[in-house]
Amino acid sequence: MASVASLSASLQQRVSAALAAAVPSAAGADPLLRRSDRADFQANGVLGLAKRAKANPRELAEQVVAALPQDELLGRVEVSGPGFLNLTVADAAITANLAARADDPRLGVPEAADPGTTVLDYAQPNVAKEMHVGHLRSSVIGDAIAKILEFAGEKVIRRHHIGDWGTNFGMLIQYLVEHPHELDHTEGKDADAGEASMSRLDRLYKNARTLFDSDEGFKDRSRRRVVDLQAGDAETIALWRQIVDESKIYFYSVYDKLDIEIADADIVGESGYNDMLVETCDLLEKAGVAVWSNGALCVFFDDIKGKDGEPVPLIVRKTDGGFGYAATDLSAIRNRTIDLHADTLLYVVDVRQALHFKMVFETARRAGWLPDRVTARHLPFGTVLGPDGKPFKTRAGRSVRLEDLLDEAVERATAVVREKGEKIGLTEEEIAVNGRQVGIGAVKYADLSTSLGRDYVFDLDRMVSLNGDTSVYIQYAYARTKSIFRKAADDQKPAAHPELALAPAERALGLHLDAFADALAEVAATYEPHRLASYLFQLASLFTTFYEQCPVLTADSPAQVENRLFLCDLTARTLAQGLALLGIRTPERL
Ligand code: ARG
Repeated sequence: MASVASLSASLQQRVSAALAAAVPSAAGADPLLRRSDRADFQANGVLGLAKRAKANPRELAEQVVAALPQDELLGRVEVSGPGFLNLTVADAAITANLAARADDPRLGVPEAADPGTTVLDYAQPNVAKEMHVGHLRSSVIGDAIAKILEFAGEKVIRRHHIGDWGTNFGMLIQYLVEHPHELDHTEGKDADAGEASMSRLDRLYKNARTLFDSDEGFKDRSRRRVVDLQAGDAETIALWRQIVDESKIYFYSVYDKLDIEIADADIVGESGYNDMLVETCDLLEKAGVAVWSNGALCVFFDDIKGKDGEPVPLIVRKTDGGFGYAATDLSAIRNRTIDLHADTLLYVVDVRQALHFKMVFETARRAGWLPDRVTARHLPFGTVLGPDGKPFKTRAGRSVRLEDLLDEAVERATAVVREKGEKIGLTEEEIAVNGRQVGIGAVKYADLSTSLGRDYVFDLDRMVSLNGDTSVYIQYAYARTKSIFRKAADDQKPAAHPELALAPAERALGLHLDAFADALAEVAATYEPHRLASYLFQLASLFTTFYEQCPVLTADSPAQVENRLFLCDLTARTLAQGLALLGIRTPERL
């Protein structure tokens, strides 16, 4: 199905043409079209143009108006103030434009004409460690960006760069060699397999750490074990895999709770680049990008200095011969641009790693692994704060367990859902399902509705509130559309009637629905999911106003009933599609 230009795109094009007709030198000038309170749209571009052409702006504006085509799109045009154009779209044009894409499952959103390949690095927890709220952000944001880009037609390759390599593993594996039953599943088949896995790993980690810190012999054996691991010794690798697999049970249980799908093939952690590390360092050294300094292989940058004014290098190989985080990330870039043919590399990672990525990207550019045609971007996100406004910690000062937060969110949401649900006759089972969809949606939405770089307070009361900028408010608007359809009589079906005049609330809703594709295009171009969240919240608010002001099933005429049902249907599908792109479900009855 061909996509339909939005009203704002059509207007933009008409006003541009009229500007060029009035002032030939203005061909291609931006009419600066915006949504406006006074009319549907306002074009402010005449002012600047008049200035440059040394013309009277009001007169020029009148000329532009005269040059605008008299067609079915524009209802009214006025010159206002010093030379603004106020543009009102004809009611019929709004309805007709929505109707033109009502049968399209993509709701008129075009697919990219020339899609590229994006490798998206997100959801990267660390093996044998508890996931924390930072991993929540990376997972939720990354999942939304993946879905949004894919919907736009981009080829997305997901990469979960998990921390599954490094010196810590020598200690863990050596402990397992000496205590072979440490990870045995003694608890039997438990319902909470993920939690059980994590507690086994936690115990392994603590015991190994205690021994490592107190027993020099064990420390030595652990260090030798790291060498065996890097050399690929079979017994060592088997134990390493046991630890990784145990961790995956835990990761998958958390992702399952989060309603985020992770494919095993996309989990390519730090270990996945082990075979490339030596070569990466050699290439950097031969190209003169990296130099040996105090026994370490380093890359230096003119503009990166520490507090003491000394340059801060990126260390690709440590003095003990080990490879660090940077060597792995540089190897991953080689893999992603050369083998996976990426045009864009995205990293959804905590803002605290900004310097690391700046140095890694710069190094890769110098080495020729990031040619100009490839864009590499760190999409940094801020910190999740506790109620006290400080980074989220438990009272005991430990970082908060992600699972506990999710469980609590679902519990609170279930209470909210139950209150209304009992009135509309939901079963216990339905209440439980909705409670999960509302609770997990609330956690995701709170995260996605804040612009990435900002910190936000994890406040469950606010997150599950029915009033305000929350997912449950949007989910509730969706459920309301569904309830209208359940109540409709058999002969009351959605159908567009462009011949009908629209009430103000219908116009506002229609114009906003019309802007869905434009909003999505902006989100895909900026990697800012919060713009989609705010589009959807606005859509839900406009629908609420429409619902209060415009009776649907008891409207004045059968045609008006159909037209309003048509608006309800398109609203429902737009809300569901938009929330799905954010990874949020839409219960049918709330
Ligand atoms: N595992 C890391 C952490 O938990 C995040 C990895 C980010 N991705 C990357 N390519 N470095 O902090």
